Amino acid sequence: MEKNYEEKINELLSKMTLEEKVGQLQQCGPSLVGAFEVSFEELLDMMFDGRISKEEFDRLMGTAKQDFHEEELKAGKVGSYNGIGDAETANRLQKIAVEETRLGIPLIFGYDVIHGFRTVTPIPLGESCAWEPQLWEATGRAAAEEATAAGIHMTFAPMVDVAKDARWGRVSEGAGEDVLLNGMYGAAKVRGFQGDDLSKEDAMAACLKHFAAYGAGEAGRDYNRVDLSMQRLYEEYLPSYKMCIDAGARAVMPAFNDINGIPCTVNRWLLTDVLRGQWGFDGMTVSDANAIAECVNHGIAADKKEAAKLALEAGMDMDMTSNTYIAHVEELVKNGVLKEEFLDRAVSDILRVKFELGLFDNPYQTNEEREKTAMLKPQYRELAREAAVKSMVLLKNDKNKEGIALLPLDKGVRLGIFGEAASNRGEMTGAWAIGAKADDCVSIEDACKARGVAYQIGTEAAVEEVAADCDVLLAVIGEKKDESGEAASRADITLPKEQIVLLEKLLETGKPVAAVLFNGRPLAIPYVAEHVPAVLEAWHPGIEAGNAVLDVLFGDVNPSGKLTVTFPAASGQCPMYYAHMNTGRPGGKSKFTSKYLDAPVEPLYPFGYGLSYTEYEYSDLRVQRVEDAYEIRVKVKNTGSMDGEEIVQCYVRDVAAGRVRPVKQLAAFEKTALKSGEEKEVCFYINVDKLGYYNWSMDYVVEAGEFVFYAGGSSKDCLEVRVNHKQKEKEQTDGKSNDS
Ligand code: NOJ
Repeated sequence: MEKNYEEKINELLSKMTLEEKVGQLQQCGPSLVGAFEVSFEELLDMMFDGRISKEEFDRLMGTAKQDFHEEELKAGKVGSYNGIGDAETANRLQKIAVEETRLGIPLIFGYDVIHGFRTVTPIPLGESCAWEPQLWEATGRAAAEEATAAGIHMTFAPMVDVAKDARWGRVSEGAGEDVLLNGMYGAAKVRGFQGDDLSKEDAMAACLKHFAAYGAGEAGRDYNRVDLSMQRLYEEYLPSYKMCIDAGARAVMPAFNDINGIPCTVNRWLLTDVLRGQWGFDGMTVSDANAIAECVNHGIAADKKEAAKLALEAGMDMDMTSNTYIAHVEELVKNGVLKEEFLDRAVSDILRVKFELGLFDNPYQTNEEREKTAMLKPQYRELAREAAVKSMVLLKNDKNKEGIALLPLDKGVRLGIFGEAASNRGEMTGAWAIGAKADDCVSIEDACKARGVAYQIGTEAAVEEVAADCDVLLAVIGEKKDESGEAASRADITLPKEQIVLLEKLLETGKPVAAVLFNGRPLAIPYVAEHVPAVLEAWHPGIEAGNAVLDVLFGDVNPSGKLTVTFPAASGQCPMYYAHMNTGRPGGKSKFTSKYLDAPVEPLYPFGYGLSYTEYEYSDLRVQRVEDAYEIRVKVKNTGSMDGEEIVQCYVRDVAAGRVRPVKQLAAFEKTALKSGEEKEVCFYINVDKLGYYNWSMDYVVEAGEFVFYAGGSSKDCLEVRVNHKQKEKEQTDGKSNDS
């Protein structure tokens, strides 16, 4: 039963001074003090521009003390902390809030628990390639159990920003380029993080981000402007957030970017009309870090005071670390510039979530004992390994002259392993793994030792000697973990030259070469695709990286992951995605078609693609109308010699519509286990109201006419059936979508 806290909220609100109300909106992080003369930001800049080395930076950081702003906390001027991930500190600060402030309102602790806390699971982009909602929920649950034991009440996740541009560094943090997949992934994470009752000690509130369309930044550059038609916003971006709100996410983080000229942080239409008005959200909004103050840089506010007014009026509740509300809101209200009702709304939203989390009844939801025993449980490690295995995508697996594929490897092979990442534990977690410890991670080398695999670590200088001694050469290549994630956009998404040179040398030896890719985004890898006989996309797999890679390479598990992002053949093709609209001149052989002179028309690997050690055959696709839905049935047979799991995908296309529609749009999917030789029929239902779109006047319409339904093992490899869709009277346009 839903609990109603409105009376309690109003009672508390009536007792609060203006200053105390503003205090509830203040989220601060511990600031670093001492040890160095400059600010933390300046210190970071000094490291990035080379004035100090990384080692010097680390040394200074190690000697710095943390200021937890206890004096402000006692005065009721702090409502939340960000970035505190240990039970002892959290409880110490909570005690001050509960026992030493006038009203004793508990704090809420927020943290970036993006893909696990101590038990780091694959980066979200990797995990999405499992196409498995139960798995996404289970890893979310494990993350919540660990994080709440460390005193965390809210995670700044899931990120469901649809990301169609591989140059954007934050592609790694979401479920790829498709809006349905992002929505399903995010909704599963919300369920996992929040559990069945938010007031339980092991439940944490999900702060959905980045609302909205952060992934549509121009040219894939982080923090960049977003300029979208309303139709595109409603069809391709908003539904993933809406699905998470429907799943019960209790917090939302507005995005850094503007949408059509209005930064999300001060976008009243977005935060009030859409989020609260149309979608019925009554949780809290938390700004992105410093984002309210940055509205001055955007050029939407003359100064921070104006930014505070605009943000609060827009529906922006909690200020993450910009100190803008705490500095200006009281004065704005006292001077009558800002109506107190906006402040009251924000405070109520925050108190509501605090009540729902059970913080008023039980402010100390953990202790050091629970924290000690909660981390890295064997079942979490198992789950991390399962998730890593399921996230891996086999991109290539050529057969030799005898018709035998290079992978899986024979158990007895001697491996020559090349590439620094093969032994580097800390690199395995990928972006945003702040609770992680390098020593918790299993590298490929660690896993080889543990399994008793015969191997030799090679260097570029010793390629020939090592090759002479080994049966198969393994090139471990890709990106470093800090080359994706926030502020890590890349203009060139190819591999570094040294890695290509290494591959050339390995291939010259004549020994079979397999590549394992660790990376946080799709890469343009034409050389690898053309020359390396076997390629496994492992992403940044988390703490069980090495074990999971060997599970797949040695065939203990048959790989089943499928890409949730398109791999372009060249950086210049970005943004490249499967659900594009057609032009009047679709790319083709003729010169006068939509393409580049110096890049192919097609991607290297399409959305939905992924091989396995067995093969699947699709047949007998049938589509029929069943009441308000289409029933799509397709047979899938495992025609190879190994058992496996296949991700069956169903797409749809509206052939001729009142507005140009995507060439293909994912409508449903199912992962199905098939024993060698087994055949199954997979059945999807797609409601008729899913076939619509927003017309020129922004009415959601479902039109009669021809539709194509596709089913297959990738967006480029499908069977298809054409259907003439007839409208029943009640399905005529009603101006509403069920998604947004
Ligand atoms: C900035 C990032 O954009 C956001 O995703 C994150 O949650 C906050 N910083 C807090 O670390």
